[in-house]
Amino acid sequence: MSPIIQTQALDVPSAIIKRRSIKTFTTDPIAPELLKQLVELTVAAPSSFNVQAWQIILVQDEAQKAALSAASWNQQQIVQAPVTFVFAADPTAGEKDLTPILEKGLETGAWNEGTVNYFKNAVPQFQATLGDKRREYAIKDAIIAATHLVLAAESLGLSTCFMNGWVEDKVKEVIGASDNPDLAIAVLVPVGYAAEPRLNPGRLPFSSNVSVDRIGNPYQ
Ligand SMILES: Cc1cc2nc3c(=O)[nH]c(=O)nc-3n(C[C@H](O)[C@H](O)[C@H](O)COP(=O)(O)O)c2cc1C
Repeated sequence: MSPIIQTQALDVPSAIIKRRSIKTFTTDPIAPELLKQLVELTVAAPSSFNVQAWQIILVQDEAQKAALSAASWNQQQIVQAPVTFVFAADPTAGEKDLTPILEKGLETGAWNEGTVNYFKNAVPQFQATLGDKRREYAIKDAIIAATHLVLAAESLGLSTCFMNGWVEDKVKEVIGASDNPDLAIAVLVPVGYAAEPRLNPGRLPFSSNVSVDRIGNPYQ
């Protein structure tokens, strides 16, 4: 039986404070409507020019989970959790046909014809100036979406773990993207119900990495 959905969502500060990187998950499934809500909140993330340079793959199939875990130094969270979101980043997104994005902006009333005409030129131009930073910029979009997922999941009673421990080519093989040399893997996020709580390992004092006006002028 799937666990009861938390009806009272945690507010953002509470979700930020409560979130921990969970290393062991129960195998309890996530109710389909809850998973859909998570996907909606994930793609609600902002992105550069609203280009949404992410490709998000929900790995749920048992054999796929096993393969993804093997591509991730056998980290068991992926096998245990009912779903792992693979956040891939498409550095070519800004060079593709922007019509669906521009039409959506017009349809919602968020953008007028002037904005759309500006974006038609500005996006490819900006993309061209990025050169070999295209990958980095696409990864920014994907990581911001992943952060939305993590906080939304926490708010809705689920747990997560950001994961960097994987081999990119192997992950691409699992998700069927070996033939796409441009696609980058940004981060993996298993989502599910925590089997064991984790303590907060704490953070450095502000004085070591928060400054005012110039780096090294510590924020008190
Ligand atoms: C980008 C990133 C990659 C991480 N990769 C892994 C990972 O591969 N495996 C893992 O168990 N934890 C991973 N972590 C979790 C960190 O160890 C954890 O965030 C850190 O120890 C702080 O603990 P907290 O998240 O509970 O505050 C990662 C965290 C981040 C932000």
